[in-house]
Amino acid sequence: MSDKAKFIHNGSELEFDVPQGTMNEKYVDFSNFRSQTGGIITLDPGYKNTGSCTSAITYLDGEEGVLMYRGYPIEQLAEKSNFVEVMYLLLKGELPTQEELTKFENDVMDHDMVSEDVTKILSAFPSTAHPMGVLSTLTSALTAFNPKAVDAKSETDMYRAAVTLMGKFPVLASWTLRKVKGWPLNYSDNKLGYVENFYQLMFKQPNRDLEMDPVIINALDKLLILHADHEQNCSTSTVRLVGSAHTGLFASISAGVSALWGPLHGGANQAVVEMLDQIKEDGGNVQKWVDKAKDKNDDFRLMGFGHRVYKNFDPRARIIKKAADQVLDKLGIQDESLEIAKKLEQAALEDEYFISRKLYPNVDFYSGLIYRAFGIPTEMFTVMFAVGRLPGWIAQWIEMRQNNEPIGRPRQIYTGAPKRDYIDMNKR
Ligand code: CMC
Repeated sequence: MSDKAKFIHNGSELEFDVPQGTMNEKYVDFSNFRSQTGGIITLDPGYKNTGSCTSAITYLDGEEGVLMYRGYPIEQLAEKSNFVEVMYLLLKGELPTQEELTKFENDVMDHDMVSEDVTKILSAFPSTAHPMGVLSTLTSALTAFNPKAVDAKSETDMYRAAVTLMGKFPVLASWTLRKVKGWPLNYSDNKLGYVENFYQLMFKQPNRDLEMDPVIINALDKLLILHADHEQNCSTSTVRLVGSAHTGLFASISAGVSALWGPLHGGANQAVVEMLDQIKEDGGNVQKWVDKAKDKNDDFRLMGFGHRVYKNFDPRARIIKKAADQVLDKLGIQDESLEIAKKLEQAALEDEYFISRKLYPNVDFYSGLIYRAFGIPTEMFTVMFAVGRLPGWIAQWIEMRQNNEPIGRPRQIYTGAPKRDYIDMNKR
C-alpha cells in the first residue's frame, strides 16, 4: 500500500499520495492542491519545504552530508575524474568513453572565440566594476552575438548551445579579471586542456611564458568539479525560473550569475576571506567574532558557515579544506588567514549555538584561501565559482525544457490595504 497524506479542512478530507524519489526521499504532490481545495494555497517563503521540480542530475542529503552527480559520489569524482568529464556527465547523464570525451572537449574548445565587439562592452565598464556584474552583462550580451534560436526539442541544438557557452564563458570570466588588473585581453590556446586554458586565459602575459604548476592546475580542476552542480540552489533555481518563460539559455545563465553574486550564496567565498582579514587586523581574537555571530543584536554572521540543506559537514568543505592545506604547503605560502580559519572552525564547532543549529563550514569557507594562493584577487572569487557552476546551470536548464516544465509563477498571500476608493489630490 502506498503512503498517503490527509488534508482535513472545514470537515472535508482530501487524500494525497506520498511517492518517493530514487533515494527514498518522500514528498507530497501538491501540484493540484489549489484546485482540489477550492482555492487554498501553500505558503513557504524561501521554499524551505518546497520542491520545485523533479530532477535526475544531482542528489544531496543534507542530514548525512552526501552529494552525488548523476549517482556518482562527489568524493570519487573529485579524486578520480576531471572537470571536463564532469561537465560531460552532468550534461549527458553518463560517463563518456575516451572517444566521446575527446570529441566533447574539442567541441567545447571549437567555440572559445568571443566576438571582438564584446570587448567594446567590456571597455565601457570602469575597472572598479565588480567582476560578477561584468560577467553577468557579457553573458547576456552573448545572446546578441549568437542569435540563432535554440529548439529545446532538438538534442543537436541543445548540445550546440551548451558547448558554445562552455567554450566562451571562461574567456569572459578571464576578461573580467584582466579588466580589474588592467591587463591586455587574452585569447584561448586550443593546444591546452580546458582547465589549463582557463588558467592561461587569466594569467598569461604577452611578453613572457606562463609556468603551469600542476599543483595549481589540479587544485583548480578539483575546485571546479566541487562547484559543478548543487541541485536547486538559489542561482540554479533562478536559471530554471527564467528559462521556464522560454527565455534563451544565455540570458537565463546571466540571471544565474547575478543570483550567485549575493553574499548569502556564491558571494560568500569573497565575504569569508574579507572576514578572515578583518579578524586578523583586529588581533585574531577568534572567540570575539564567534560571539558577535551569536549576538542577535549584531547583523554579523560567520561567513562560510551554515547551509540551507546541509545540517552536517558540507562534503565539499572537507575536500577543500584538505586541498587548501596541500596547496598552501606545496606553494610554500604562509597564510595567517588559514590558521585563523581553522581556529574559527574549531571554536564554532565546539559552541552550543552552532551545534544546536547544526551550522558547519560550507564550500565557501576554505575555497577563497586557495584562490588567493593562486594570485586571484578577492573580488574574482565568485567568478571562479560561476565557471565551476556553469555545467550544472546548463544541464538544469536543458532538463527543465526537456521535461516541459510550466512557467514558474509562485502565488502569494496579499497583506496590503483592502479595497478602497481613489482620493483626489486636493482631498489628501
Ligand atoms: N552565523 C551565525 N548564525 C547563523 C549563520 C551564520 N553563518 N547561519 C545561520 N545562522 C543562524 C540563524 O541566525 C538562525 O538562528 P535562529 O534559529 O536563532 O534564528 C539559524 O542559524 C538558522 O539560520 P537561517 O538563516 O534560518 O538558515 P537559512 O537556511 O535560511 O540560511 C544560509 C542559510 C547559508 C543563508 C545561512 O546559513 C548564512 O547566511 N550563512 C552565511 C553565508 C554563507 O556562508 N553562504 C554560503 C552558503 S553555501 C554556498 C552557496 O550556497 O553558494
